[in-house]
Amino acid sequence: MEKVAILLLTVVAIVVIQKILAFVRLLRTVNHAGFRSLLTVSGISSLFPPIPLISIGNTAYEDKYKSFQRFDADIFTAVSVLPAEVNYMLADPQAIKEVVGSRVRFPKPVQLYESLMIFGSNIVASEHEEWKRYRKISGPAFTEPNNRLVWDETVKVMNDLFKNIWGDKKDITLNHALEITMPIALFIISAAGFGRRLAWNEELKTSNGHSLTFKDALYTVSEGIRIKLLAPKWAGSVFPRVKKVHGAFDELEKYMLEMIESRKDSEVKEQRFDLFSSLLEANDDNAEDAKLADSELLGNIFIFLIAGHETTAHTLCFALGLLALYPDEQERVYQEVLKAIPENRDPTFQDLNGLNYVNCVLNETLRMFPPVIGIPKEAAEDCMLTTTNNAGEKVTVAIPKAKYWEDPLTFKPSRFEGDWPRDAFLPFSGGVRSCLGRRFAELESIVAIAMLVKNYKITVKEEPEFAEETFEQRKARVLKAKNGLTLTPVRTPLVFTRRD
Ligand code: HEM
Ligand SMILES: *[C@@H]1O[C@H](CO)[C@@H](O)[C@H](O)[C@H]1NC(C)=O
Repeated sequence: MEKVAILLLTVVAIVVIQKILAFVRLLRTVNHAGFRSLLTVSGISSLFPPIPLISIGNTAYEDKYKSFQRFDADIFTAVSVLPAEVNYMLADPQAIKEVVGSRVRFPKPVQLYESLMIFGSNIVASEHEEWKRYRKISGPAFTEPNNRLVWDETVKVMNDLFKNIWGDKKDITLNHALEITMPIALFIISAAGFGRRLAWNEELKTSNGHSLTFKDALYTVSEGIRIKLLAPKWAGSVFPRVKKVHGAFDELEKYMLEMIESRKDSEVKEQRFDLFSSLLEANDDNAEDAKLADSELLGNIFIFLIAGHETTAHTLCFALGLLALYPDEQERVYQEVLKAIPENRDPTFQDLNGLNYVNCVLNETLRMFPPVIGIPKEAAEDCMLTTTNNAGEKVTVAIPKAKYWEDPLTFKPSRFEGDWPRDAFLPFSGGVRSCLGRRFAELESIVAIAMLVKNYKITVKEEPEFAEETFEQRKARVLKAKNGLTLTPVRTPLVFTRRD
């Protein structure tokens, strides 16, 4: 017995010594300041709160620029023991441009995207030839005809909300504005991406053979991806949440298969140019060069449903919260919308040019609350980062405050009216792996914000327990964000009051 214990301890000691040696060896190769910790910053361990020497926490959103100031450069390092690796954090637009601009030298580390591959490989979670094939298949769906479709479908979704849900009510109080922005974004990707119109009313009931609505299945899935990965199905018999998440994945798969079947069966084989048609065509046995296997079809439908609505929904929620907090900015938006769309009619695609300030509000929201707060890349060759890292000029230069944005923490959409540092604005990433749905998201957001502000005045819901708070406290409460799959507004309680 004693012998076994000694053997075991020896093995543990050897492993620990090996890990420490690897860490020390690695540390010697790193010539630039930063965090040193037991756990890496990337992947799942970024979810741990910051604990000195153990974990760093997520520096990207909460800390804003603090760590870069502390380490006195726009690049800092994070060296970990488990695993022994170096991560380089970049805030320097020029360096970022170089990284996102070369897919060959800095490919996407697909191992960090495993959670997005549950239904199959897809455009977000792949690299190299595979990614090229997916991009080739789906890219053509994101052009001007689709932009118009996004615009028109957004108008329909907003009118449906105003007419059939909000009706004649003078005040509508929402405990969390996400209650409307999630369905708005979901209905738009569903209609403009997959030709499936969902109505605000219908979605309240479940349909044939389903235990969840499409909406609830998708929400539960996007909130529960980590649980699905970490907790096996049998754990559902002990933990209701685990059971719910696994159930939602099954439901979502059923819905996606039904969507595929009903489109394949549809009597009229009308020519369509939406995303779904492109994906289905590539899955056809007769498809020519760029083909999609069945699992790749499901994987891509899933990723477009997720990428196509969660980000935009969170952005819209933050934008509405900001407009409620800054009535002067809301008034400016209102005046612009009145001028651009004076009559009592729906916004048309031609009105876009008159809605520049709405676009400024959207960009300012994305600058302050970028849904995707970290974009990982891998160095395929050890070249560029070391040069930026050497204690040469760039690294040793002291960084003055507000280097890229004046008053970086202030909501000031008008900053986008003048000249602004284009390279320092990366909510949609950059280079060839940047967001395919950028125009899609911009257009739906602009129409949704314009129509909401045109018809309703937005204010923060008054609640007795917060009666004494200062503006800063209120702002922090209403815009509080947490790290979900993407940056998530925690609770944005708003009141929409009809303007007429
Ligand atoms: C405000 C809304 C949005 C933001 C901030 C956003 C942001 C991003 C970012 C940062 C990336 C790069 C992610 C990475 O490197 O892992 C990305 C990729 C992507 N996004 Fe978006 N996105 C938004 C809306 C949309 C919408 C509406 C769609 C589709 C309808 C979409 C589809 C995609 C796709 C397909 C990719 C992968 C592109 C590739 O790797 O080739 N996104 N997005
Ligand atoms: C908003 O940002 C996008 C880039 O994401 C840019 O193309 C557009 O010109 C910006 N709009 C305004 C009004 O600044």
